[in-house]
Amino acid sequence: MIRQSRSILPLFFLIRFVLVVYGGATMPTVLLDWTVSSSQLSLLGVPKQVILINNQFPGPLLNLTTNDIVSVNVFNNLAEPFLLTWNGVELRRTSWQDGTQGTNCPIQPGQNWTYNFQLKDQIGSFFYFPSLLYQKAAGGYGPIRINNRDIIPIPFSTPLQEVDILIGDWYITDYQEMRASADRGYPFPTQPDGILINGFSPFEANYNFQPGATYRLRISNVGLKTSLNFRIQDHKLLLVEVEGSYTLKQYYDSLDIHVGQSYSVLVTANQMDGMSYYMVASSRFIFPEVTGVAVVRYSSSASSPLGPLPQGPQPFNYIYSVEQARSIRWDLAVGAARPNPQGSFHYDLINITRTIVLQNGVAIFHNRQRYTVNDISYVNPDTPLKLADYFQLQGVFTPDAISDVPEGRHPSLGISVIDVRYRNFIQVVFQNTLPSLQTWHVDGYNFFVVGMDFGIWDESRHSAYNMYDAVSRSTVQVYPSSWTAILMEMDNHGMWNVRSQDYERWYLGQELYFRVKGEGQDDPSTIPDRDEAPIPSNVIKCGRASFV
Ligand SMILES: *[C@@H]1O[C@H](CO)[C@@H](O)[C@H](O)[C@H]1NC(C)=O
Ligand SMILES: *[C@@H]1O[C@H](CO)[C@@H](O)[C@H](O)[C@H]1NC(C)=O
Ligand SMILES: *[C@@H]1O[C@H](CO)[C@@H](O)[C@H](O)[C@H]1NC(C)=O
Repeated sequence: MIRQSRSILPLFFLIRFVLVVYGGATMPTVLLDWTVSSSQLSLLGVPKQVILINNQFPGPLLNLTTNDIVSVNVFNNLAEPFLLTWNGVELRRTSWQDGTQGTNCPIQPGQNWTYNFQLKDQIGSFFYFPSLLYQKAAGGYGPIRINNRDIIPIPFSTPLQEVDILIGDWYITDYQEMRASADRGYPFPTQPDGILINGFSPFEANYNFQPGATYRLRISNVGLKTSLNFRIQDHKLLLVEVEGSYTLKQYYDSLDIHVGQSYSVLVTANQMDGMSYYMVASSRFIFPEVTGVAVVRYSSSASSPLGPLPQGPQPFNYIYSVEQARSIRWDLAVGAARPNPQGSFHYDLINITRTIVLQNGVAIFHNRQRYTVNDISYVNPDTPLKLADYFQLQGVFTPDAISDVPEGRHPSLGISVIDVRYRNFIQVVFQNTLPSLQTWHVDGYNFFVVGMDFGIWDESRHSAYNMYDAVSRSTVQVYPSSWTAILMEMDNHGMWNVRSQDYERWYLGQELYFRVKGEGQDDPSTIPDRDEAPIPSNVIKCGRASFV
């Protein structure tokens, strides 16, 4: 089975592998040249401007291994500024490479910029996407794998093949029109026009299975806002990995995958040879249901799948979804990026030093609807926070302008940066007061999802936390009128984006940054932080940093 990708022109991009000496050890380095362009493609039968990477949509697989040093030289051939961000990749000590508006100046049209980072201490399934200007609505995304080093066995038999499956909602409206509409304060359509599977419209994508073989599917929801349920007719999904954590192996008939989340499942081709089966990704919490369909073909069978599309869980059944989320457990006995078992990090023994409650909201500013966190709707300053911090530019942002807990302030526009001391162990509670599902992501980190429930969170909820084998991941859902609690070890210096994965809400203010620095009694305002990677030699300067 091969990963299908839409190729517009012949490919002649270069992948170079070299060995360099880094910190005394020899590490493989992956050097890539990626060209970003756009083209009119007819998806769902309607032509629309789609963002391509090396003429592909979805973009090329970033296939890496723990400890690899990566260098991606991105050439921006769009008519607009561009940045990629690496959803879920920890980028240890170097938020300089994170590709968000708070960390990087954009790559201007006709220019290129090289991202450089090392994949320390991480394995798993992730994806990249364009972070600016609503460009994610035009594609530009692609899969990321971080493979185990050879010395650490994967905790299951080697599958015959691995397949990256990017699922996501799609809108036939041009992304620039969507952006203009968001800028004018018009609400986003609640109904997508369709669901794509690896860039294909329904019934266009085919996957070939060899009878008896087992495949690892790495599935990510790369869409803008729609939670999806993934399933394959007559096949069970054996969950093995969630965003860099190996899980206890459990079978599911289908999986709810919220925007920004990634899962690995093993699927064994144990059905009848010569037959075909539906692969479905359908919306979960909107009516009417919107469905993406691909076809799994045994031995390249030409036959059509039999029967109706497999049914997903009952629409709007949130309890089913919460119970499924709670059933996902960390496998304490296996190694991942390190040979020692994941469970040798006993998060239950560490004292929580701070609790931050982030409550979402909606507010009207200048007759336009925007989204808030603790009553502040984030507005990007003209200078990235990371650069303002590094060059000590006064007046770009004031740390801790946002409160640690919602205080019922009058909603305001602002720049929210929370200072967190390096090595603190903190609790973050996402409180969702709205009637729609939220998804939250923290860049640079994985966190333990210890609890989620309906209602309003308070300290008494601790007693029901999973303090034993909660899964560690980087994107988590918060159900309507519910809360989700996470625990984080603040072990990664830098300026890290905390965002709603719902693109519209992110674009309209639902985000903040964690500034992680200092240790012990060090002054957290010490600049630059000695434990952080130095400013990149190729750093792009913009805004007020242009003049330093
Ligand atoms: C990805 O990298 C691994 C480890 O180097 C290699 O074994 C595998 O064949 C690669 N897969 C693809 C699709 O490039
Ligand atoms: C742009 O690409 C050129 C040619 O590959 C490379 O030498 C240069 O370092 C790149 N510029 C940046 C800012 O990364
Ligand atoms: C946690 O706090 C308790 C009570 O204050 C203390 O006895 C214990 O040593 C602390 N544990 C750690 C790991 O700091």
